[in-house]
Amino acid sequence: MQHNRGQWQSTAGFILAAAGSAIGLGNIWRFPYVAGTNGGAAFVFLYLVCVLLICLPYLFCELAMGRHTKKNPVGAVLALRGKSPWTLVGALGVLTGVCILSYYGVIAGWAFGYIFKSFLAPALSLGEFSANSMVSVPLFALFILFTILVVVRGVEKGIEKAARVLMPMLLVLMLLLIVRGLTLPGAWKGVEFLIKPDFSVVTTATVLAALGQAFFSLSLGMGAMITYGSYLPKSANLQTSGTYVALFDTGIALLAGFMIFPALFALGGNPSSGPPLIFEVLPTVFAQMTLGSVVAAVFFVLLSIAALTSTVSLLEVPVSYFVDDRKWSRKKSVWVVGAAAFALGLPAALEPSSESLRSISLMGATGYLSVMDLIWGNISLAVGAMLLCIFTGWVWGYLKAGAELQEGGGMSEGTVKIWGVFIRFICPLFIFLVLLSLFPFGSRLLAAIGLG
Ligand code: PHE
Repeated sequence: MQHNRGQWQSTAGFILAAAGSAIGLGNIWRFPYVAGTNGGAAFVFLYLVCVLLICLPYLFCELAMGRHTKKNPVGAVLALRGKSPWTLVGALGVLTGVCILSYYGVIAGWAFGYIFKSFLAPALSLGEFSANSMVSVPLFALFILFTILVVVRGVEKGIEKAARVLMPMLLVLMLLLIVRGLTLPGAWKGVEFLIKPDFSVVTTATVLAALGQAFFSLSLGMGAMITYGSYLPKSANLQTSGTYVALFDTGIALLAGFMIFPALFALGGNPSSGPPLIFEVLPTVFAQMTLGSVVAAVFFVLLSIAALTSTVSLLEVPVSYFVDDRKWSRKKSVWVVGAAAFALGLPAALEPSSESLRSISLMGATGYLSVMDLIWGNISLAVGAMLLCIFTGWVWGYLKAGAELQEGGGMSEGTVKIWGVFIRFICPLFIFLVLLSLFPFGSRLLAAIGLG
């Protein structure tokens, strides 16, 4: 019996929790700056294509694996295949959870600190703020602690309850800020930036950025949706709930764009200012509004809320592994994994004040935090998703996975056939080509066959 594993109280609870995992810094902090540096509307278009044709079919793989086995990523692969090298793919997911949590928690800590910063030290830049390790390290520790306190309470009482309260609040706050931004004179240019594509700026790097962003934003590629799916009853309709999660996540990313760019253009900011976009540019935007510090505080409350429901899922994946497969108590697992993520994230928190951590670089990413994001938030998620597609399509078998998707009045037989084509051929091949373009020899190869 799985009596102590926990289960969502309702499908709506699952959708909120899974959307809470998906919606986070990825949508509100990362999506606008990646869209801003990749040319705006053309990127947004590619992003939508990736979500629809690659991520949505793949999301069903994770949900089917999770609900069928009622296990964490490692346990799920073991249950479907027995001991085999495929177990390593599950283990990669668990490891990726800890690693993303480590640097994600640092940025979430900044977001939390910015709630108070708008009142206490409005003139401080992000560089100055984050270089003060007496502030950034305790903020990071506090954010990991919040995450621990939610996850330790378990699936229904902790994660589901938090999401039920926090997610609707987030939406209301965002709508308020969008209306505020859109009513500023000159805001229309920001809307155009997001909806009028200029495809001449698209390169393979744009496609890679769009695909990586889509996986990251939907929490895909490391088994977060295997884990959340494992707490779903057989009566739930995986096709509808999965589609809702993807719709909400994409909707919030687009709303974040409409929250930031109209205000930014109205007040003369630069859309391609990179990772500091929301931290540096938005506060200057807010400062020009009436009640600016209140608006800023509201915005960073919102960002912290969104980040918390995501860090909760990042922690839940390794925790579910230790609970299911190592028979640790939930309490022990949560504190041990939380502490490990904190230790691993310390260099990211200290980076702004350390020359040597800032100068680490790998394949175009510079600084410890960006290198960690490249390895775990981009490459590992894409590799994980590609391998889990192949696993579901060819090893477990797409018809067996499809039978799981058909339970609870879910997918029709016809849709399962089409879905099978996507996860056996289209998704893994597309991800493979995009990954290949990351490496110099790969991009030369793609250019030679006319795909580069
Ligand atoms: N999807 C989250 C976000 O957009 C981040 C995340 C990635 C969470 C992977 C869990 C797993 O912020």
